[in-house]
Amino acid sequence: MRRTGPAALVIAGALALAGCGGSGGESGSGRAELSVGSAYIPQPMSGDMAAGFLTVTNKGGADDELTEVTSDIGRVTVHETVDGAMQEVESLKIPAGGRLELRSGGDHLMFEQLKRRPKEGQTVSVELHFAHSAPVTVRMPVKPATYTPKTGH
Ligand code: CU
Repeated sequence: MRRTGPAALVIAGALALAGCGGSGGESGSGRAELSVGSAYIPQPMSGDMAAGFLTVTNKGGADDELTEVTSDIGRVTVHETVDGAMQEVESLKIPAGGRLELRSGGDHLMFEQLKRRPKEGQTVSVELHFAHSAPVTVRMPVKPATYTPKTGH
């Protein structure tokens, strides 16, 4: 015997939530409107790996997802930090009317197999790919290893 009742209720609930998000956007466009800010790369200690941070803001009326990041400097993966350990994730959600924050100690970009070591004062160009929106190219400035961004708006 299959108990389909409860599952159907869960699906209905999820749809209702999605509806709320869709109507919450100021534009009411029903699609994501993304902008990228606060991007930087702390100068790495070695030439093997570097971390990158940025914020993606979504002013639109639909969720989107960061699905892939590419750069000419090397391989880029998206990591999340869980209990102090980092692990690769396939995508990160950018909620409608919200933001995805990649920051020190949390979610971040991971640069590996570097062709050159990023140095303070340089910029690293990356391309962000999304589930729905067009790709965005970001020039990430390389900051001192100890740099911490000011919080706030
Ligand atoms: Cu990492």
